[in-house]
Amino acid sequence: MDQIRVLILAAGKGTRMKSAKAKVLHQVGGATLLEHVLRAAENIGEALIVAGHQADKLKRLLPEERFVIQHEQLGTGHAVMMAREALAGFSGNLLVLPGDVPLVRPETLNNFIAFHNSGKYSASVLTADIANPFGYGRIVRRGDAEVDSIVEHRDASSEVLRITEINSSIYVFQTAALFEALQSVSNANSQSEYYLTDVIGILTGLGRRVGAFKAPNPSEILGINTRQELTTIDLYLRRQKNESLMAGGVTLMDPESTFIDFDVQIGPDTILHPSVQIERGSVIATDVTIRSFSRITNCRIGARSKILEGCILTDTDIGEDVSVGPFAHLRMGTVLEDTVKVGNFVEVKKSRLGRGTKSGHLAYVGDATVGANVNISAGVITANYDGKNKHQTHIGDDAFIGTNSTLIAPVRVDSGAFVAAGSTITHDIPAEALAIARERQVVKPDRAPHRKK
Ligand code: UD1
Ligand code: CA
Repeated sequence: MDQIRVLILAAGKGTRMKSAKAKVLHQVGGATLLEHVLRAAENIGEALIVAGHQADKLKRLLPEERFVIQHEQLGTGHAVMMAREALAGFSGNLLVLPGDVPLVRPETLNNFIAFHNSGKYSASVLTADIANPFGYGRIVRRGDAEVDSIVEHRDASSEVLRITEINSSIYVFQTAALFEALQSVSNANSQSEYYLTDVIGILTGLGRRVGAFKAPNPSEILGINTRQELTTIDLYLRRQKNESLMAGGVTLMDPESTFIDFDVQIGPDTILHPSVQIERGSVIATDVTIRSFSRITNCRIGARSKILEGCILTDTDIGEDVSVGPFAHLRMGTVLEDTVKVGNFVEVKKSRLGRGTKSGHLAYVGDATVGANVNISAGVITANYDGKNKHQTHIGDDAFIGTNSTLIAPVRVDSGAFVAAGSTITHDIPAEALAIARERQVVKPDRAPHRKK
């Protein structure tokens, strides 16, 4: 195998996006454009990234040493020049990818690299014939065989504009030939930029051979320059994801309103009702039901569990045969063991609820460990925050927390203990004890008619 490294161009602002955010950080299918490109190339070789605009934010994705910085964005050719030092002494091939082409598949890249190697080209371009080539660089061939050069849309004559074979901005170069040719690239063009595309004409002018490999599926190499293109490609990825889930046995009642991120896994016989969003990192088992208007982010949900309408679940692990919602909010590392029931208007934060525990209505459970078969009645609050610090509540197995009780943390209610309704609990309760912490009721006979006067 010939040695190969990967260079991703991601320094541009993406002016046409009209965004404060660097273009490659916009998302499609639940991942940034840059992450998609990195994934496509991950098995080919270690990627070096040319960053510039919002480089600090890009650097959160990979270790520092994988970046070179282009301080001023003077064009794609200039961007590649920034990697010269980092690649000094490397004599293999360089796969160059733009950061804004998220649909390209690893198979296509592998076939393209094989084409380059078998043709012994100095450079190869991945191209495609597309119906609307507006805005793309055009592949100019000599006769209909050899590649001559690439001409940018803005700099093209009307004759060249009729060419429908476009430059994807994905190339393989012999690294030495690339950096040698880059020295001759000028910025004498409509944008006063140093174009990487000019390297192709420079190499052929020196008598070097350049190959062009047509992508089998032109939509794979679509670039994203505008919000319209961002949404088009997002919807395309969503549709692909939905179709692969349905092929795997998942029911999507309304695929059009179902948004599932690229890495989400869902087992067969799970049913997703209309208007459900399942975001990154989520793994849903078999025979799960998820009802409308629920958003699930980075959660694990066990078999046969039911998520009813309008739930927001984030970073939560849910066991088997659990019922959640409607209108529940679970977050920050919450764990619900098997057969737990969390009902309407219940929020659970950073807490574990043991097997069979129930919190049916209107409760807040935060920073708590709750044992098995506990009953948390309506209106129960763990008062976990004293204005400065968060404190833990511990509730043992089989405890019963009566309606409208406040547990002022830190506090322990041991197993089998019973908290009477309306109590404000400030002291630990031993196992099997009954705690009542409320005013005694006063009954004044015959006083009611008097009060109405
Ligand atoms: C480029 C190609 C064009 C091709 C098209 C395919 C050039 C001159 N043109 O045009 O032939 O058809 O891609 O999508 O190469 N970038 C930098 N630094 C810069 C400029 C750009 O890192 O100074 C990065 C951008 O972040 C982006 C990529 O290079 O990820 C492509 O740049 P972009 O401005 O989108 O090029 P296009 O106009 O699309
Ligand atoms: Ca582009």
